[in-house]
Amino acid sequence: MNKVSVLCSALLLSLSLSVSAEPIVIKFSHVVANSTPKGKAADFFAKRADELTKGKVKVEVYPNSSLYKDKEEMEALQIGAVQMLAPSLAKFGPLGVKEFEAFDFPFIFDDYADLHKVTQGPIGASLLAKLEPKGIKGLSFWDNGFKSFSANTPIKSPADLRGKKMRIQSSKVLDEQMRSVGALPQVMAFSEVYQALSTGVVDGTENPISNLYTQKMHEVQKNLTLTNHGYLGYAVIVNKKFWDELPADVRGKLEQAMKEATVYANKIAQEENDNALAEVKKSGKTAVYVPSKEERMAFKKAMAPVHTKMADRVGGDLLKSIYKETGFDPSKL
Ligand code: LMR
Repeated sequence: MNKVSVLCSALLLSLSLSVSAEPIVIKFSHVVANSTPKGKAADFFAKRADELTKGKVKVEVYPNSSLYKDKEEMEALQIGAVQMLAPSLAKFGPLGVKEFEAFDFPFIFDDYADLHKVTQGPIGASLLAKLEPKGIKGLSFWDNGFKSFSANTPIKSPADLRGKKMRIQSSKVLDEQMRSVGALPQVMAFSEVYQALSTGVVDGTENPISNLYTQKMHEVQKNLTLTNHGYLGYAVIVNKKFWDELPADVRGKLEQAMKEATVYANKIAQEENDNALAEVKKSGKTAVYVPSKEERMAFKKAMAPVHTKMADRVGGDLLKSIYKETGFDPSKL
């Protein structure tokens, strides 16, 4: 081909691209309701992506496991059936990235400020980088909140969990956390929890209140204890090949949309959980118990051995670097 014909075909190609400029579609699948911190942040991202790219990118959000359940969505992302997810940090073990389970250690974070020292600093960045060999690019961390225990019997002390079948996410650290108080952990997809609670397949669970409320779990759990014993948040992830192949200007706009969505997600998380708690109380279906300082300490002490027992699961050095950021010291309990 001579220079002129190369130029002509390049011109023709760019002409046909601009004529048939179909939007780039990003399928964003998640498992929670629209009206949760993650649901709202996903919708916010979709809106900003549309605005910033001037319609070049259309983000289709599929909430509430309408497309895929927990385990399937990870597989769907890897094969490119969807492009974006925001799984809970407790769900990366099956993918082979066990380090994310560091977020599941009981009582490791006191509050969001503690947490952000990790998610928004070098530790967070190095965790996201661990996804790349799996064909996944980690874009950001989004908050949900701190988990509380629910069951059909009062939970005021660790002994109250003994022998209870408790639904957990697919994390070995959470498995050990439940075993540390004599409970029987059962891994189950989020979409199946309500049914399992209502039929007695499991006795109880742990959740941030926004998840409990939007899945109506409070209607089938008579007791909720505000233990705030552990954290649940998300990593927003994309199919790496898809992301890398986006035109650079589009990718830049999406990065900006993600930055804004992250600020938004982290701003609304606490408020959404507070509102959900108010609704749960208003429903009158669940007795909400606030443990005393001493009662909460009893859970903390009972679960402290999880830190030594499971350190190797995530890597002792990683765990220590998190302690350094947050000031948590399990040996002082
Ligand atoms: C759960 O399975 O309990 C949560 O990970 C659901 C979610 O995405 O918040």
